[in-house]
Amino acid sequence: MRRGILGSCSASLASLSIVFALSATGAPGQTAVSADAPYKNTHLPVEQRVADLLKRMTLEEKATMLSGSGWMESAPIARLGIPAIKMADGPMGVRSWAGSSAITSSSASPVRVETTAFPSGIAMAATWDTALAQREGRSIGQEVKALGRDMILGPTVNINRVPLWGRNFEGYGEDPYLAGQMAVAYVRGVQGEGVIPSVKHFAVNNEEFERHRVDAKVDDRALHEIYFPAFKAAVQQADAWAVMSCYNKVNGVHCAENAYLLTDVLKKEFGFKGFVVSDWGSTYSTAPTVNAGMDLEMPGGPPMKAWMARPQTQAAGNSDGWLTADKVLAEVKAGHISEARLDDNVGRILRAIILSGIMDLPHTQLGDVDTPEQQKIARDGATEGIVLLKNDGSLLPLDPNKVHSIAVIGPNALVARTGGGGSSMVRPKSAVSPLDGIRKRVGSTIQVTSAIGVGMEGENPAEDTPEARAKDLKEATDAAAKADVAVVVVGRYNKNESESFDVKTMDLPAGQDELIAAVEKTNPHTVVVLNTGDAVTMTKWLDSTPTLLDMWYGGQEGGNALAAILFGDANPSGKLPVTLPKKFEDSPAAKNYPGENLVVHYAEGIYVGYRYFDTKNVEPQFPFGFGLNYTTFEYSGLKVQGRMMIKEPGTPVTLVTVEIRNTGKRAGAEVVQLYVHDGHSKIDRPVRELKAFERVELAPGESRAVQFALGRDAFSYWSPTAKQWTLDPGTFEIQVGSSSRDIRVKAPIEIK
Ligand code: BGC
Repeated sequence: MRRGILGSCSASLASLSIVFALSATGAPGQTAVSADAPYKNTHLPVEQRVADLLKRMTLEEKATMLSGSGWMESAPIARLGIPAIKMADGPMGVRSWAGSSAITSSSASPVRVETTAFPSGIAMAATWDTALAQREGRSIGQEVKALGRDMILGPTVNINRVPLWGRNFEGYGEDPYLAGQMAVAYVRGVQGEGVIPSVKHFAVNNEEFERHRVDAKVDDRALHEIYFPAFKAAVQQADAWAVMSCYNKVNGVHCAENAYLLTDVLKKEFGFKGFVVSDWGSTYSTAPTVNAGMDLEMPGGPPMKAWMARPQTQAAGNSDGWLTADKVLAEVKAGHISEARLDDNVGRILRAIILSGIMDLPHTQLGDVDTPEQQKIARDGATEGIVLLKNDGSLLPLDPNKVHSIAVIGPNALVARTGGGGSSMVRPKSAVSPLDGIRKRVGSTIQVTSAIGVGMEGENPAEDTPEARAKDLKEATDAAAKADVAVVVVGRYNKNESESFDVKTMDLPAGQDELIAAVEKTNPHTVVVLNTGDAVTMTKWLDSTPTLLDMWYGGQEGGNALAAILFGDANPSGKLPVTLPKKFEDSPAAKNYPGENLVVHYAEGIYVGYRYFDTKNVEPQFPFGFGLNYTTFEYSGLKVQGRMMIKEPGTPVTLVTVEIRNTGKRAGAEVVQLYVHDGHSKIDRPVRELKAFERVELAPGESRAVQFALGRDAFSYWSPTAKQWTLDPGTFEIQVGSSSRDIRVKAPIEIK
């Protein structure tokens, strides 16, 4: 696709090269480069162009490229026409500030931008729809270009280890395979537009508590089986052009100077050819950082100084960056950094610049943001991501012929809570709240009333007095009493669920449990809707709640999506990308969170999420992969073929076919999940692990054969002794079903 774009622009490319050559200011003693230099030839392979550029660059120019030139820009080399990489924060759309001014505390005046607020990562993961995630990535890539930027700082693929991580909403849940497939799709979409993604944060960034200083102690097996695979998939299956390291330490060493992570694993084991960018202000040294495999320190220049002056970031104890040209050059001259190392760093950045096309044709604000097509993708994501958790009594879908009035209630009903807080926050042109979505859907056919019920804890002090609370609650119950149906939307928002700090408690914010209970008591036809990025405690009201939906943070279209599900315009097909525990203490990591004395032991090892709940028989509130539908599906005819072991990783060893039939009266989608059970290996393994899935849309009565090809890796584990992926021959079981605890068909398979 990229080639097509470049091909069609060859005339303008030629003239651009001349402009570069003529306008180059030229470093002292350097002459302008001729227009036919090999690196300018768009027909040559990227490696050749990079090699040619490296030959032409001075040591000083190379050193300059290792640190940013501003808050969101890498350093350009004008003499050679090497552009700055202009970045934008993500991942769920383009962040609300653009350009070097994106840091609001710097002296530069910030540029506000309004873009499409796509659903949060967790909502996208709940769709299990990789084709849609790829379309989302493409849309975000288009918006990045429309704003004249080149790189989006996403996707976030860190695993949901503990329900309180402040950034769980950004990520793709608890399963490494699901997270990996969503990441691959997103990266393909972004890169297909010639935009550089940044798969973040490598690795083991699973809590915000003391994120600059905390040391995650994780064993090698958990790293390889749980915390690395999403990055590995993005690198190996999508050739991701960039990866961002993280703030914390892993096994004693900060990620930005962790040679094991950046070089041994990412670059050597995974074969990563892209560049590593540091998380903002996460570097602590010059030679050790460069030699560990860090390619680009961000930010740079005055914004780095401003960022480092903040109390939160002072831990780095550094005011203007560690990979500045002068510091890097001094280390090269002292023999602590080799020139070959510098070439490798710079070559990786150049590769992304060339592959994205910006070496040849800058992204000059072509295209538009928030187009109807982008809005539709945001809406599809929000709709497909909604999970129907309970529908006892089949209140849903609401029948417009029978429902004449609805009371829409709750601190998250009247306002659109589109996402969590922090660098991922997008400012949409407009966002649809649940109330607006429902009103728009029903028009004047159904009477809609509303009440806040309880103010969002900490948001508005005026609503936080006993009198105001009593008044709000009474208004809500009065509205519920008069309506045929009550819809109560509860949850968190971007000030209590955010980057930089963890969520305080799994309990809903103050007064929300009481609101649900009071409304349910008044009106038995109550639908409870959760609007958060992660699990909340439901034990206080769940038994008396017949109808429950989880809409996560659905982006700007969340309210429309909710209305579509409530009225059955769309069938709920979302499935939980994370186990919802009954209480925080049930979570496998609860005992080892947030750590002590700045050390957090990942003592649960590989037993994260359902791997723990299912293996250790701990009853969750709702299991991984779970989600109801308005129709029903039948699984049959499981066939397993090709029972031989092939040595090369990735080569299919077995084909699994299963027949899925829509046995209900409505069209709908089922997410068919394939788990592998290993009961014979020499090592302790989870009772099942997700190894494939597919979302299948079926009309009533329609059936389809779904086929999965499993490679050697689907049966392997990481052996801590052999230090490699290992497959113990023997009998495995293929389990196919609708959640990790709803296996519908299974069959043994002998791997020899
Ligand atoms: C976050 C990154 C983000 C970067 C730039 C950091 O604090 O951890 O995810 O991309 O800031 O805003």
